[in-house]
Amino acid sequence: MAIAAALREEGFAVTMVGRDPAKLEAAAATVAAAKGPAVRTLAGSVAEEAFLDEVVAFHAAEHGSLDLLVNNAGIAGNRQVGDITADFLDAQLAVNIRAVVLLTAKCQPLLEEAVRQRGRAQIVNTASNAGKRGEATLSSYSATKAAVVGFTEALHDELSTSGIKATAICPGLVDTPMADSYRDAIAASTMITPRDVAEVVRMTTRLSAACIVPEVVLLRPTEWLQPEEVRSAV
Ligand SMILES: NC(=O)c1ccc[n+]([C@@H]2O[C@H](COP(=O)([O-])OP(=O)(O)OC[C@H]3O[C@@H](n4cnc5c(N)ncnc54)[C@H](OP(=O)(O)O)[C@@H]3O)[C@@H](O)[C@H]2O)c1
Repeated sequence: MAIAAALREEGFAVTMVGRDPAKLEAAAATVAAAKGPAVRTLAGSVAEEAFLDEVVAFHAAEHGSLDLLVNNAGIAGNRQVGDITADFLDAQLAVNIRAVVLLTAKCQPLLEEAVRQRGRAQIVNTASNAGKRGEATLSSYSATKAAVVGFTEALHDELSTSGIKATAICPGLVDTPMADSYRDAIAASTMITPRDVAEVVRMTTRLSAACIVPEVVLLRPTEWLQPEEVRSAV
């Protein structure tokens, strides 16, 4: 929602997608409360290829081109590696990487149309700091997010000279419902905010066509620190 709101402030009409129609409509109403371009919604699961086709057709009918694709939907879940089941893994693969690759592929013609009309287009993929440095109890999630980082690097290699920029954003813990399993141990006030992530997306839209940000890592002060035994030795 924060990303949609920031993009709308930048003048983008937005199409928002999620599984839960009530949650989606509430988020869209919040985004649309301020004056600005159109906000459209489509409810469904990005894990379903037919829904991805529906999203692309819907956006194409409304706008005819796509300036910016944000692949932000994601699911997580904490499990020791020995407890990972096929269902648990397949659900994460379907949303966190399969949908990202397929939706990007299906959106390419619309992104190319934006380049023809306005000289530029963008893809922003929400990965995770866990995709840069795998984390205990998040092994399958870390693997899917590392795949998002690799996919985004390949997009840069393949599409940047045609005017389509690709960015992977790799945040640490963000204060959203996904962080709920950490709330007993970590205060919300010390988490990255959804607005922080949205500001990074906003920044990428403001850069000149010649300037690409391939990857942004956002960390909380305690993330990725050297172990205390190393810190105390120096
Ligand atoms: N929160 C963190 O600490 C954190 C850190 C690093 C990266 N991230 C990444 O940031 C992104 C956003 O996550 P969040 O923090 O906002 O988590 P969240 O509060 O759990 O929200 C996840 C979002 O993805 C949507 N979604 C999930 N499965 C979907 C599906 N099958 N089809 C369509 N939409 C689906 C959800 O909408 P519905 O429920 O309505 O489907 C919701 O809008 C994810 O890619 C996540 O991996 C989060």
